[in-house]
Amino acid sequence: MKALVLAGGSGTRLRPFSYSMPKQLIPIANTPVLEYVVRNIADLGVHEIGIIVSGRDNEIQQALGDGSRFGARLTYIRQEDPLGLAHTVAIARDFLGDDDFVMYLGDNMLPDGISDIAEDFAACRPAAHVVVRKVADPRAFGVAELGPGGEVLRLVEKPQQPRSDLALIGVYFFTAAIHQAIAAITPSARGELEITDAIQWLVANGADVRASQYEGYWKDTGKVGDVLACNARILEDLRPSVEGVVDETSVLVGPVVVEKGARIVRSRIEGPAIIGAGTVAEDSHIGPHTSVGRGCAVVQSRLARSIVLDGASVTGVQGLHSSLVGRSASVGITTQSTDRYRLVVGDHTQVEVAA
Ligand code: DAU
Repeated sequence: MKALVLAGGSGTRLRPFSYSMPKQLIPIANTPVLEYVVRNIADLGVHEIGIIVSGRDNEIQQALGDGSRFGARLTYIRQEDPLGLAHTVAIARDFLGDDDFVMYLGDNMLPDGISDIAEDFAACRPAAHVVVRKVADPRAFGVAELGPGGEVLRLVEKPQQPRSDLALIGVYFFTAAIHQAIAAITPSARGELEITDAIQWLVANGADVRASQYEGYWKDTGKVGDVLACNARILEDLRPSVEGVVDETSVLVGPVVVEKGARIVRSRIEGPAIIGAGTVAEDSHIGPHTSVGRGCAVVQSRLARSIVLDGASVTGVQGLHSSLVGRSASVGITTQSTDRYRLVVGDHTQVEVAA
């Protein structure tokens, strides 16, 4: 069995962050989403992993390397344009050969793992085995209708009028039968070769297509709110450790990680929270449910339920909440008159100020 991880795409819903970094490298508890994905796959005993990356991207390769630190061998496959999930399988054909494989969307987090589903697939080897979960608004997902025995009756990509509340989540198991299906489908109205259409083709042609309902935690980290919610959830399992320096006037409450070279000065860190390597927190109150990346400065500030990416600074800001601060960004206050703001705002950025 092999694996295909999808880490290309355009990341439009995660702008402006996805302008300067692949969305799959957004850190959750200071670890890129894609690392959780690769570790989950390696945990299945699958070591041959193909990673789809967009044509202009080298950052993912730099972040994951050759995969040896996960006990896996990574093969990078470039997709010049985001032409759809099924298109990625087509361009990975040489890598996949005729092997069974798990396709895993590189922006999906399933921290409870997928080993039960992998075992079900290996036991029966249906042409396709999808994973579904009840969601409040299925219109943003592929939607499955299931028969009484869990067999898939119909799949539709992002329907306006969903006929069930079961969303496809980002893990799919296939035999080589999927290649014939992908060769038979045409691009959808949005111009993409949809994996949902390829699986529907298998259903329509009488192939065995099954589904498992996923009971564990799952998040598609494609939007800022979901990134923050997922970060909060992953931090719940944080194992505390202090490798940096905490001065005697600072207080750590609950599970807190202070990475190597970090300095906590006259501050209160309320867990679950993680302070990245080389970061300085001074006269601040950080947490709970907050991750501060590496090489950051948080000075005279109060922040909670937030993520601060590497190299960013937050100075003099009280009450930062549910915020995502980009790499090397700076958030501060002005000493000028308080009824005016000075902002340098990038494309597609969101700024909220007090009314
Ligand atoms: O999260 C589950 C949903 O993922 C499913 O319910 C949908 O059926 C499925 O189509 C997919 O929908 P999204 O709109 O969330 O897909 P997204 O464009 O975010 O792409 C998912 C991953 O695949 C993401 O890591 C980017 C990557 N990708 C995407 C496309 C379109 C590629 O590598 N190449 C591509 O051409």
